[in-house]
Amino acid sequence: MKFEKEILCIGAGYVGGPTMAMIASKCPQYRVTVVDIIPEKIDQWNSADLPIYEPGLDKIVKQARGKNLFFSKDIGAGIKAADIVFVSVNTPTKTFGAGAGMAADLQYVEKTARQILEYSESSKIVVEKSTIPVRTAQAIKRILVSDKSDVHFEVLSNPEFLAEGTAMRDLENPDRVLIGSQETDSGLKARNELVEIYANWLPKDKIITSNIWSSELSKLVANAFLAQRISSINAVSSLCEETDADVGEVARAVGLDSRIGSKFLQASIGFGGSCFQKDLLNLVYLYCHYGLNEEADYWEGVLKINENQMDRFVKNMLRNMFNTLAGKRVCVFGFAFKANTGDTRNTPSLTVVEKLLAEQAEVAITDPKALDNAARDLKDAKGNYELISDPYEAAGGCHAIAIMTEWELYRDLDYQKIFDSMQKPAFIFDGRNIVDHDKLFEIGFNVFPIGKPKKVHF
Ligand code: UDX
Ligand code: UDX
Repeated sequence: MKFEKEILCIGAGYVGGPTMAMIASKCPQYRVTVVDIIPEKIDQWNSADLPIYEPGLDKIVKQARGKNLFFSKDIGAGIKAADIVFVSVNTPTKTFGAGAGMAADLQYVEKTARQILEYSESSKIVVEKSTIPVRTAQAIKRILVSDKSDVHFEVLSNPEFLAEGTAMRDLENPDRVLIGSQETDSGLKARNELVEIYANWLPKDKIITSNIWSSELSKLVANAFLAQRISSINAVSSLCEETDADVGEVARAVGLDSRIGSKFLQASIGFGGSCFQKDLLNLVYLYCHYGLNEEADYWEGVLKINENQMDRFVKNMLRNMFNTLAGKRVCVFGFAFKANTGDTRNTPSLTVVEKLLAEQAEVAITDPKALDNAARDLKDAKGNYELISDPYEAAGGCHAIAIMTEWELYRDLDYQKIFDSMQKPAFIFDGRNIVDHDKLFEIGFNVFPIGKPKKVHF
């Protein structure tokens, strides 16, 4: 069968995999191929056991795989055949040299651009999916035009706004799709081609277009605003704990103002994930680069509140457990950075576990999907910890439970059974405000929510 379009995605990660699965499932007339430099990852995508957990992903991959969705190790052949190439490789925070700890490490994006140039025998549209600093398109374009004059490349920016755990829903029904291009004739033509792909399942008014720099910057700003809301409500939570106000009631009252809105006002242990910290640092670096130091400090404040929230959480545990955690057993409920994913990149749980280990606590970690990643993240950690999949077993014999991830499962456990198996006095620190605090207090727990009055028996 001849396909209307050949689409390639370089990078089979949390973004590339789900996004291409959705395009393939909505557009049977296109052939979609996903490649990655890690061959084992491609094997996993071709197996029954996909490399990432995302609700709804399995079903869509299994329906389209082998029909118009292919996972391949042959990057060169993929590039040769493609009309459109999505670049979805990782852009972590730089760990070395100039801008270490802040700037985005663009080596993978650059290597990918060079690969595209090397294998291309025909003109292509190259789409930046990875989140990158503003003006990266220019760098990609420079590399692409450096050699073959007979092949034309048009670079578009199409940032991904999906959130993990709800990726398939976000892809199927996004608030908007953003496509940026250069505003030349060929740029506008390429932009329209990408619009037509999304128009296979989305109304045109959801597909917005802009110049390429606005598109790149919008992704960073969207994540910065989301992170800022969480830090704002988390900054309120500390004040609530001091004043007997309840952060949930405050968030409700404030969020009902339609100018403010109710989403992303859930006080928590702090935000994690692969994007918020990286993108904020990236933004701060951009401001510093342009000498805009006050603005840089403003956005950096969002990160400082986030770090402080985790620090405050562990200090609160220490203070309320008689100023010592040494030799005490603490059970950590959840290692993923949020519910419905096994992803642990920048998870607050790791920070909290490291702080607990530094206090010489013994830590029992449980999570329904993230224990493999936890084992990898903790391999250099010093101290006494165990990974236990059954939450009842993990909590048995513990002095305290710390809830780190808002998994639904932790709402509905038999807490009487857990209480009976724990050391007394038994403590529960709810870093997500997900359990019924009154009920736990009645059972006998000393309960410490985020931003709400504590409930203690002594
Ligand atoms: C990545 C970026 O981190 C994020 O900023 C961006 O918005 C989307 O792309 P994610 O998909 O979550 O997000 O990253 P990851 O799961 O690490 O996937 C990237 C994949 O690219 C990896 O599988 C990696 O092996 C692959 N890769 C990396 C290549 O195929 N080629 C490279 O040169 C580098
Ligand atoms: C985020 C953006 O939402 C998405 O648009 C972008 O493309 C990538 O970055 P993601 O990191 O997958 O997505 O998850 P998100 O749902 O935004 O949550 C980030 C963190 O904030 C999680 O640790 C979550 O638990 C926390 N959070 C979220 C809160 O603490 N409180 C809230 O009210 C909302």
